[in-house]
Amino acid sequence: MATEQVAPRTVAPPVPEHDRMPIHGIDHVEFYVGNAAQATYYFTHAFGFTETAYAGLETAHRHRRSHVVEQGRIRFVLTGTLRGGDEIADHHARHGDGVHKIALSVPDAAAAYEHAVSHGARGVQTPHWVEDEHGRVQLSSVATYGDTLHLFVQRDDYRGPFLPGYERRGEAPSNPDDMLLMGIDHIVGNVELGHMDEWVRYYERVFGMTEMIHFSDEAISTEYSALMSKVVTDGSGRIKFPINEPAESKRKSQIEEYIEYYNGAGAQHIAMATRDIVRCVSELRGRGVEFLHIPEEYYDDVPERIGEIDEQIDDLRRLGILVDRDDEGYLLQIFTKPIGDRPTVFFEIIERHGARGFGEGNFKALFEAIEREQEKRGNL
Ligand SMILES: [Fe+2]
Repeated sequence: MATEQVAPRTVAPPVPEHDRMPIHGIDHVEFYVGNAAQATYYFTHAFGFTETAYAGLETAHRHRRSHVVEQGRIRFVLTGTLRGGDEIADHHARHGDGVHKIALSVPDAAAAYEHAVSHGARGVQTPHWVEDEHGRVQLSSVATYGDTLHLFVQRDDYRGPFLPGYERRGEAPSNPDDMLLMGIDHIVGNVELGHMDEWVRYYERVFGMTEMIHFSDEAISTEYSALMSKVVTDGSGRIKFPINEPAESKRKSQIEEYIEYYNGAGAQHIAMATRDIVRCVSELRGRGVEFLHIPEEYYDDVPERIGEIDEQIDDLRRLGILVDRDDEGYLLQIFTKPIGDRPTVFFEIIERHGARGFGEGNFKALFEAIEREQEKRGNL
């Protein structure tokens, strides 16, 4: 009697969640601004970016003007409306200058969209191809916190300066010695009170990201101001998205202030990595970039708190650079003042020496230093 041959049953190893949603990295960040022409001047002259691509009336874009600026692996798009009465004008009226899209480079923008939407993301633009003489790109997008979107960009072998429809402007320097800023280290989102965990779960479910670290209001609070923060990251660690929410405190938390002036949740700051923060900040200050003032007292206990570092404390003090240490090393960081009219979006410059944290030791030290100053003035 013949026996039927049964193929041995194989059990496929479980596919790690992040492999089902592969992301190469951050493709670009698009700001909606009130004046794209002047914003471009600020990014190029103050921060040392190069304008690399442009779209507007001259390229048959009748309703908007977009300038692409690049430095290292950072690419920002600065977009303003030409007509009003459109989504750019609405976004700007509601939020002021702010981040509208955090674009992610993916191998397949249709698969990324399907995965995201089937895991609970709200779809905004279904997958579609756009093309010009340089080739074609597939795009799609989903909503994240507030009015912010994640745009999926599948470039294949597109050879144009940015996306189809853009014309080439300058060429960004490729030599690291000519750059002040190298890449995006992290992008922080501020969300409303009680919503942090919901957005952390969104990134876990939709993007297969994992929570790498969290800070309770204990860790990042002073007597007067508090916030809570959790950081999600993709499998490669190339993408780090901290999510903040305000915590109960005696005075208004800085996160509440953001949410009030931004009219809801949104991107709070983009941290840009540098290889030489002392040179970078000296240069940016010389070009007119304004940073938060750090009281002298902050530096008094730096040697005991941080130990041995390569930089001179005098340079850090002179430039207002903060320093923090964790188990794996130290980091240097500094925060700009808000870049627009509202107390909302700002930048961080960061140089890592092994540390993988976000400067949490500085929150307390910095806020307390500010409060000591307040106390001296009799205002605490
Ligand atoms: Fe940060």
